[in-house]
Amino acid sequence: MATTFEAIKNRYSTRGYTSEQLTEDELNKIILAGLHAPTATNRQEIRFSVIPGDNAILEELDTAKNGGIRTPEGRPNFYFNAPVLILLSAEDGFKWSELDAGIAVQNMALEAEELGLGSLIIGCIKDAMSGDKKDYFNKACKIPDGYSFRIAIAVGHKAAVKAPHTFSEEKQVVYL
Ligand SMILES: Cc1cc2nc3c(=O)[nH]c(=O)nc-3n(C[C@H](O)[C@H](O)[C@H](O)COP(=O)(O)O)c2cc1C
Repeated sequence: MATTFEAIKNRYSTRGYTSEQLTEDELNKIILAGLHAPTATNRQEIRFSVIPGDNAILEELDTAKNGGIRTPEGRPNFYFNAPVLILLSAEDGFKWSELDAGIAVQNMALEAEELGLGSLIIGCIKDAMSGDKKDYFNKACKIPDGYSFRIAIAVGHKAAVKAPHTFSEEKQVVYL
């Protein structure tokens, strides 16, 4: 089993999935990883909408996100045909909601990595989820009234491999 640090180091954004579904146990563990995440003042204001990859609302979201434009050769949809997409929404007006959702989604990405699955954190549908059709998409995704989309995560079996990103410790870290 991967240590937490190995999962952190090895995780990368997976932009291609096989058609294999997640088991109930895998899906439960990924959701639990989100539920176990800390929230400011323990408010627990994050809601998780679990959407199968073949749900028609995802096609509608994909169109809303891209204005319906498709390249002749066809472009991948925003969740790269993952078998499941989980939308994280949070209460409006709570100043830590954005951060709490980010912490929860990273917990879920790390749990996916530990299970040998791929994941992709997805923010590109935020405008579509908060624009003219917000109420429509919220209802379709069972997001409660007074809550707004924050972030999503696609999870599935990896069909695309990528090296973890590099970074500059010199540029990003200072020691006093
Ligand atoms: C808040 C957030 C939103 C993101 N939204 C998207 C997205 O909409 N589509 C996508 O393909 N990748 C998205 N990503 C993935 C980033 O592009 C990716 O994490 C970054 O390029 C580093 O690569 P790595 O995850 O492989 O380390 C998002 C990541 C974060 C943290």
